[in-house]
Amino acid sequence: MSGYVPGEQPQDGEFIKLNTNENPYPPSPAVGRAIDEAILRLRKYPDPMAGAFRRRAAELLDIAPDCILCGNGSDDILTIVTRALVGQGHLLRLPYPSYVLYRTLAELQGARSEEVHFNPDWTLPEAFAAVGDDLRLVFLANPNSPSGTVVPPEKVLELAERLPCPLLVDEAYVDFAETNCVPLVAKCEKIMVSRSLSKSYALAGLRFGYLVAQPHLIEQLVKVKDSYNCDALSIAAATAALSDQQWLAAHRAKIIAGRGRLVREMRALGFVTVDSQANFTWNTHPRRPVKPLYEELKRNRILVRYMNYPGWGDGLRVSVGTDAEIDACLERLKLMI
Ligand SMILES: Cc1ncc(COP(=O)(O)O)c(C=O)c1O
Repeated sequence: MSGYVPGEQPQDGEFIKLNTNENPYPPSPAVGRAIDEAILRLRKYPDPMAGAFRRRAAELLDIAPDCILCGNGSDDILTIVTRALVGQGHLLRLPYPSYVLYRTLAELQGARSEEVHFNPDWTLPEAFAAVGDDLRLVFLANPNSPSGTVVPPEKVLELAERLPCPLLVDEAYVDFAETNCVPLVAKCEKIMVSRSLSKSYALAGLRFGYLVAQPHLIEQLVKVKDSYNCDALSIAAATAALSDQQWLAAHRAKIIAGRGRLVREMRALGFVTVDSQANFTWNTHPRRPVKPLYEELKRNRILVRYMNYPGWGDGLRVSVGTDAEIDACLERLKLMI
């Protein structure tokens, strides 16, 4: 198998990094304080279920703590769910183009994967909810990557009700969107929702994510996870980050404002840019090949993500940085176009 290739994470020199949808701002100061305190307890193993985080998240989401499972990043959650539900020869369905890791997760299980193409307007075709031979799990990134588009919750519920298997709604970017699917979990046991603290809480380097599902499902998923899949520092830091909702609201607002400007300016440069509900934009160009633009930006120490989806096309996914970072990227693009 070819394996999943993460976005470039250069370890040398300074780059303006707009390629892996990180938050351009440092996390809440409460995070540092929580880590300082947690260091004093590192002698001991962490809480296997990350109870402190579960209680805090449950309060915020107005659900019971036993509806939550914590993971070492939401990638860990996706792995746990796939491992628990999908076996050798089974089928896993995913939208296309979307998060490339899903297919790798299927491959790791020796399972088959079926890609259902988005319609040109980024809605899903009926085939997405069709019954499939040995279909065990369906993934939906919502907002989707690379498009930043959202399938409305009422449509997600309708799809899930028709599916013969669970639907994992991957909400890694949901804090930048207008709607979310957590309220659907209580209505339909087939719906599970994963969340990440990497993007909206600026904690990509920490690794923390969680799943919301009905308690009887969480109980089964726990059997599949590593005993201590979240370490003591990350549990403390993630709990502190979640507790600082003021920080989230302020930084979310900055990123949404930056996103609006990035979309407008990219369109002014002649790109076809999709309306995004995430912290990135998807840009294609009707006349120019975009790979050389990516390469030239990189030579100037600006990293964006060049994505090529066989059978679909290619484009540039540009994360929403600070105002200065967005300006630097736009200025350089203007010189090239
Ligand atoms: C759609 C989607 N889901 C999940 C993830 C993984 O996020 P995490 O850092 O929580 O593992 C990413 C990361 O880029 C993503 O784009």
